Amino acid sequence: MDMEALKRQAAARALEEVQGGMRLGLGTGSTAKHFIELLGERVAGGLKIVGVPTSEATRRDAERHGIPLTTLDEVDSLDVTVDGADEIDQTLCLIKGAGGALLREKIVASASNRMIVIADQTKWVETLGRFPLSIEVVPFGLAATRRALGQAFAQCGVSGQMVLRTAKDGHVFVTDGGHWIVDAHLGRIVDAPHLADSLSRIPGVMEHGLFIGLASMAVLASAEGIRVVERT
Ligand code: A5P
Repeated sequence: MDMEALKRQAAARALEEVQGGMRLGLGTGSTAKHFIELLGERVAGGLKIVGVPTSEATRRDAERHGIPLTTLDEVDSLDVTVDGADEIDQTLCLIKGAGGALLREKIVASASNRMIVIADQTKWVETLGRFPLSIEVVPFGLAATRRALGQAFAQCGVSGQMVLRTAKDGHVFVTDGGHWIVDAHLGRIVDAPHLADSLSRIPGVMEHGLFIGLASMAVLASAEGIRVVERT
């Protein structure tokens, strides 16, 4: 079975959690894109919901599919956010950020009562870290921030190459918030909550791609079918 079909199946299962009247966080990435397409079909059929996009790309996509949008300034909280992930561990800690939208994704997920993460089964891992960890940084003082990152890694028992992300045109990749991204190739993050805490203390770090205690449900699609994992 092809990957896009699996992503779509996970998105379709997450859509079953959506009811009329809900305020939804709309994730970013290729899996979330399937969810937005399917949600658009339901909206066209009369479902009344409102969404908050986690990136400019998702905003454009949602508009194209006729999904009514709002902002976090206009609603108190969201019922559910549905988003993809780069890695998911058994405690539903995540690595996110390959799409560069991690800051808005984390703000939106944190403002939601529930976060459902949708993915194909290959994203399910024993230990986070094989996928590079995205860290959104302020351009000012980048060298100092990189040094502080290196110290935080050492204190948390991890190490690895840090790469400043570039866009397809070869220029530095700039996020929707005007920041840059450092991708850290750490291999194996033994204590993700500890590392998340340490990274959050660095002034030049806007946000990092470790999502701890945010996802409440994971929907994983494989050739064998759909598996739903709830955080206990
Ligand atoms: C966007 O910034 C990311 O967090 C994505 O949600 C994540 O990379 C998953 O993307 P895919 O669904 O495209 O794998």
